[in-house]
Amino acid sequence: MAADILEKDSTRIKNGESTSVEGAGMSAQPEQAFRGLETVGAHAWFGKHHALANVSLKFPERTVTGLIGPSGCGKSTFIRLLNRMHEFIPGAAMAGQVLLNGKDIYSPEEDPAMVRLKIGMVFQKPNPFPAMTIRENVLAGIKLAHLDRADHDGIVESCLTRAGLWKEVKDRLDASGGSLSGGQQQRLCIARSLAVEPEVLLMDEPCSALDPASTLRIEETIKELSQKITVVIVTHNMQQASRVSDYCAFFLTDGGPGYLVEADDTRKMFTNPKDPRTADYVQGKFG
Ligand SMILES: Nc1ncnc2c1ncn2[C@@H]1O[C@H](COP(=O)(O)OP(=O)(O)OP(=O)(O)O)[C@@H](O)[C@H]1O
Ligand SMILES: [Mg+2]
Repeated sequence: MAADILEKDSTRIKNGESTSVEGAGMSAQPEQAFRGLETVGAHAWFGKHHALANVSLKFPERTVTGLIGPSGCGKSTFIRLLNRMHEFIPGAAMAGQVLLNGKDIYSPEEDPAMVRLKIGMVFQKPNPFPAMTIRENVLAGIKLAHLDRADHDGIVESCLTRAGLWKEVKDRLDASGGSLSGGQQQRLCIARSLAVEPEVLLMDEPCSALDPASTLRIEETIKELSQKITVVIVTHNMQQASRVSDYCAFFLTDGGPGYLVEADDTRKMFTNPKDPRTADYVQGKFG
């Protein structure tokens, strides 16, 4: 599996419009589509600024992939491409493909709101709705998306349990989301994301505002989640990347657009990477 996580493909770009990679799209769906999330020749722009170039990467289902690299190399931009958050930014453009189980999430028939239900996101700063109760926070996504789900009590308990928060809040589900600690708020946000039953959870530095104990708690949560869903996590913490991820992808910029240097088994990336820049980065020699 490690060998196929990184695939370099040539991509045609016409005036910044989304185009497909050579060869792709010539036939209908491949007989056995790759299970998981995959980018093929992904590029991103902010206006004329080319922020990310030609990233082809696979995230096998039910695995955790860590995205690592120095500040400004395009990790957040890349992760926002993965659930169509990038297009919220005025002037933003992309090219290439993002496939979930072989289907392009950018194809015209895909509804971006539905894509974001399947591919959820947890941000750096916990963002619970402070005026809502803990219970209402967990159910917020279901209500916003008008999903028809019965057994709200069961959903609240199971999502808070999977997010590792149930025991701490089960007797105060009617307290406000804002009354929780930072680490608890982040786990509440994870529970909220889980309530809509995503297939993939994207996390952009989810622990950077948290203390070490809360960080470990979230890492345990991520490991548990990956038994059922695919997780992609951006982190600057190399120990966290090595603890929590199955695969790592290393990004870099040389002043121009960010690009993928390599991706592989996390153990290999930390002990015997192909590129010397990866070795230097994971050993803390730069960035
Ligand atoms: N909203 C935006 N408008 C214009 N340029 C942007 C925007 N967001 C990011 N960029 C630019 O895109 C490039 C990649 O930024 P990005 O935030 O993806 O990097 P990053 O790897 O997540 O960095 P960090 O580790 O500091 O979070 C940078 O040059 C950045 O200035
Ligand atoms: Mg970032």
